[in-house]
Amino acid sequence: MPKTQQTNVRCIIDGKDISVAAGTTILQAAKKTGIPVPTLCHHPDLPVSGSCRLCLVEIEGRDGLFASCTTPVEDGMVIRTASESISRARKINLELLFAQHTEECKDCVLQPNCTLLSLAREYKVPIARFQDRKKDYPVYQFGPSIQFDSRKCIDCGNCIAVCKKQGVGFLETKKHKTWHETMPSADKDKDCVYCGQCIVHCPVGAFEAVGEFEDVEQCLSDKSKTVVFQFAPSIRSSIGEEFGLPSGSIITEQLVGAIKALGVPYVFDTSVGADVTTIEEAGELVERLESGERLPMFTSCCPAWVRYVELHHPKYIPNLTTVRSPHIILGSIIKQFWASEQKLKPQDITVVSVMPCTSKKYEITREELFHGALKPVDYVLTTRELAFLLHKKRIDISKVKKQHSDNPLGIPSGAGVIYGASGGVMESALRTAYERITGKKLAKLDFTDVRGQKGIKRARVRINKKTVNVAVVNGLGNIHIIFDELAKNPHAYDYIEVMSCPGGCIGGGGQPIPTNQKIREQRAQSLYDIDYATSVRTAHENPFVQTLYAKFLSEHASELCYTTFSPSKKDKPKIIL
Ligand code: SF4
Ligand code: SF4
Ligand code: SF4
Ligand code: FES
Repeated sequence: MPKTQQTNVRCIIDGKDISVAAGTTILQAAKKTGIPVPTLCHHPDLPVSGSCRLCLVEIEGRDGLFASCTTPVEDGMVIRTASESISRARKINLELLFAQHTEECKDCVLQPNCTLLSLAREYKVPIARFQDRKKDYPVYQFGPSIQFDSRKCIDCGNCIAVCKKQGVGFLETKKHKTWHETMPSADKDKDCVYCGQCIVHCPVGAFEAVGEFEDVEQCLSDKSKTVVFQFAPSIRSSIGEEFGLPSGSIITEQLVGAIKALGVPYVFDTSVGADVTTIEEAGELVERLESGERLPMFTSCCPAWVRYVELHHPKYIPNLTTVRSPHIILGSIIKQFWASEQKLKPQDITVVSVMPCTSKKYEITREELFHGALKPVDYVLTTRELAFLLHKKRIDISKVKKQHSDNPLGIPSGAGVIYGASGGVMESALRTAYERITGKKLAKLDFTDVRGQKGIKRARVRINKKTVNVAVVNGLGNIHIIFDELAKNPHAYDYIEVMSCPGGCIGGGGQPIPTNQKIREQRAQSLYDIDYATSVRTAHENPFVQTLYAKFLSEHASELCYTTFSPSKKDKPKIIL
């Protein structure tokens, strides 16, 4: 077979002649051509581990079977992805995997999208043929956010790889005499920040968020309580995936309709809280730029990032913006402003936040955010938990009657919606800070340099005669790059956004599984589409938020919108089973 170009190689897969760049794996080449190859441990976000041995293929002229995810295409290769011996080997490997995996399918996070289970059906694997080797392994809980059921773990290493990529390294493999065990680190300097990336990268549902939906169901049946839901900016473009809709489908009104179908009387939009966060944060930024103090200012609406700073880099605590995150601010507004308008007692209101995030479950337990005994938010449901609840009640979000969020806390600006994408918090604050400093309207509202999926995004923004240097850290594992730059030049930046999850909250640990860069791009693009289509695109011009300030917030912002941070210590994981 002749070479096409120096950098390309040609091969034949299942009779199809294919040309791919040198270095492409057989799996990538097959996918590119639409030839399905089963995979379990392979995740496009992570280095290849080649541990599950389900992606086996045959190569003509070579003995044995090859893992297609680890084998690069060579010029002239003839590859088969299906044969009797491939099926037999995949079936045996599946049985071995099931011997390590204690099935609890009914309550599993991956239901109904479990690859392991669907492969078992496809290859007719009797999943209970081997005794569950790990049935006595522990179930761990990390803080109020994460559970790790090591009885289900097949030791693929994905969680270890992603936790390391996050710059945390809390998970590791312990070597026993004849086997390995995945477990939390005993190192006193390492602790979980609750980002949940291990959950969305585990192929067998061994990680999950601590569930709160049963408590929420109980509140919904308690007639003495008024249950109020709010939903984060990113949920509107992600939850559809749990109901078979394409990634990035915008279903804001169906989401509200579905929540109301659960029996929830009031549904508000956290993006309105984001508008308030923006106004306060832009104000704090302007003050710090004028005084030159506590610069660069870091965003603080990502609790996993805040925990990382408090645990490992307390010297940067003064640099965090003291403004509370959007759902905490909205929770306080619901209980302290909306409640009195409705003639309700704050203690009779239960606020449930639907979040893309597992670390928000931790955030709501931070006592600095309480007003006496009153918590701004009572429960956090992840996107997956809400979908689970809707499925349980047979509510199909794709078919439900559309409804609008309730007023006055239901209509955000476009700036409040883009909070869900990496760079969105920064862009919203810059739109408002620019107008606050110059007194002029921005000619162009889009700060496209801070958008997108790059790990670090940098921009220089001219405001009057000053240049404001900004950076966006997309994924916690990239923060060391900025810390290194700041060590060399503490004045390198004025304002830095840090979101722990890849892509920002659209790629959060509570979001639908699977996730990958393409899916994250589609979810993010939808938020920008909403922004473009919204008539009010800056937080401070949102008329509902202006009224809120006039009626209530101008007087109460200092007690409702600000918080404190302090150095934190490792929280030992608990064994709960
Ligand atoms: S939640 Fe994040 S920090 Fe904690 S173990 Fe998982 S990946 Fe690591
Ligand atoms: S917990 Fe999941 S991701 Fe981690 S090693 Fe086990 S199977 Fe792999
Ligand atoms: S990036 Fe968003 S989803 Fe991820 S931990 Fe931070 S706040 Fe949560
Ligand atoms: S997907 Fe290739 S070895 Fe697991």
